[in-house]
Parts: sequence; structure tokens; C-alpha cells
Amino acid sequence: MSLQWMSCVLLSLMCAHELQSLSVSFTNPWPFHVAVGRDLVLESSIEILPGEELLMLTWERNVGTEARRLATIEATRQATTQDSRISTENNGTILRISGVQESDFGRYTITATDGNTGTQQSAHKYVRKSDRPPETSVVLLCDVSAARAQWDRPVVTWLLDGVQLTNQTSHYTSEDGAKLHLQEVKGRNYTCISNSSLGTSEAHFLLADSSVSRNTCAHWSSMIAAVLAVLCWR
Ligand SMILES: *[C@@H]1O[C@H](CO)[C@@H](O)[C@H](O)[C@H]1NC(C)=O
Ligand SMILES: *[C@@H]1O[C@H](CO)[C@@H](O)[C@H](O)[C@H]1NC(C)=O
Ligand SMILES: *[C@@H]1O[C@H](CO)[C@@H](O)[C@H](O)[C@H]1NC(C)=O
Repeated sequence: MSLQWMSCVLLSLMCAHELQSLSVSFTNPWPFHVAVGRDLVLESSIEILPGEELLMLTWERNVGTEARRLATIEATRQATTQDSRISTENNGTILRISGVQESDFGRYTITATDGNTGTQQSAHKYVRKSDRPPETSVVLLCDVSAARAQWDRPVVTWLLDGVQLTNQTSHYTSEDGAKLHLQEVKGRNYTCISNSSLGTSEAHFLLADSSVSRNTCAHWSSMIAAVLAVLCWR
């Protein structure tokens, strides 16, 4: 082994050590969406080797090229934040903003400074505006018993009042067909048919007549008057 090669290996080992002595990341790596007026909590994870010490943590928000310091947390002092809506928890690794405003969207950066070496590590997280609340649906599950081994998978078909359902905005099936997501009640007799090498079986989900006229999603939650009948033939 040449001396040059040895020193090269040694140097890269030292570099690797330096990189690993302190690391900063976000617990959830995906961008967050938040609606105006709601709270935002950003949770970061900091790992530091024994013997190293954390000198300082800072939180910043970047909009375009402009960076704004939101919070500074120093080991020996109390955390300072930019305004009363902002607070930190868990030694500064968690940033909380209450009542999110338009100006709060952007890229958040947490930077940690190692007290011994002075090296800094940071992690970024985008926070974007949520324009509309998420969609909700009530799910009917076609649960096909798997008590016996079979070579194929059941194909599930859904009927509404005898007519096969296709994907629409008011109802759609999961990829395997087993779940029917409903956002509106459009009829009263929901049928699932399972067809496989074991045979064909059906289950019906019947709604009371009065339920159908008031077809709102909210109404679903109060709907208990349902009858489930299972017909099986092989
Ligand atoms: C519901 O629909 C299925 C499939 O069309 C049919 O076989 C069944 O008789 C219907 N049940 C009622 C109570 O209408
Ligand atoms: C219906 O849509 C869902 C999600 O968009 C998709 O996963 C599923 O395969 C679709 N089903 C059919 C029968 O096209
Ligand atoms: C069930 O599957 C068999 C074989 O693929 C087919 O011949 C039959 O028509 C299917 N039945 C229904 C109700 O889909």
C-alpha cells in the first residue's frame, strides 16, 4: 500500500466521521400541506454522537431568496422566537406555528451547530397551502373469506340495484375491487359479487327506502337501517 493511498483512506474516514457526528433530518420527509388558520407542527430528528455537543439550533423560513429567522435555541439560554405564534418544543427540535397565515408557506430549514467542531448540518421541509379539505368517503368492503387455499384471486364486481358500477366521482372502487368508496347514495341495493375458482358468491347491502332520497355524505353516518344478506352458491 502506498503512503498516498493510506492517507487518502484516512482522510475519507475522518470526513465520514465528521459527517456522522451530527445529523439532522425530518421525521416525515414529504412536503406538508396546511390550511390557513390551522396549526403547523414540524418535527425534526437530531442525532449526535456521544462526546459531541449541540451548540445551537435555528429555524428559518425561505420564500424565494429571502430567509427569515424564526427561532434560535441555544444550549445555555432560553429559546427566542420571532413572534408569539411561534414556539418550540423538545429542546428546539419541534417548531409549532399556531394560526397559519399566507406568509407562513415556504421552505423551512433547521440548522444544527456542533459545539466542538463548529460544523453545521441542516434539513429542509416545504410547507404548502392546502386549498381544499381532503375528500372523505364511506367504504363498503366486500370481504371474501380465505379459509381454503385457491390458485387464483377472486374478481369482485359491484352492482347497484342490479346495474354494474363503474368508477365515477360519487363512487369508485379500490384497485383490487374489494372496497367501494361512496360519497353519495344513489340507490338502495348494493351487491358485491365474488367470482373465482372456488365459485361465485354474493352479498347485499340494502338501505331502508327513506335513506335514498336524502343523499348526502353526512347522512351516511346516521344510517343504521341496513340489512346485510349473504347468498352463496357453488
Ligand atoms: C339486490 O340486487 C341483487 C343483484 O341484482 C338481486 O339479486 C337481489 O335480489 C336484490 N335484492 C333486493 C332485496 O332487491
Ligand atoms: C377506480 O379508480 C381507482 C382509483 O382511482 C383505481 O385504483 C381502480 O383501479 C379503478 N377501478 C376500475 C374498475 O377502474
Ligand atoms: C365467473 O368467472 C367465470 C370464469 O372466468 C366466468 O365464466 C363467469 O361468467 C363469471 N361469472 C360472473 C358472475 O362474473
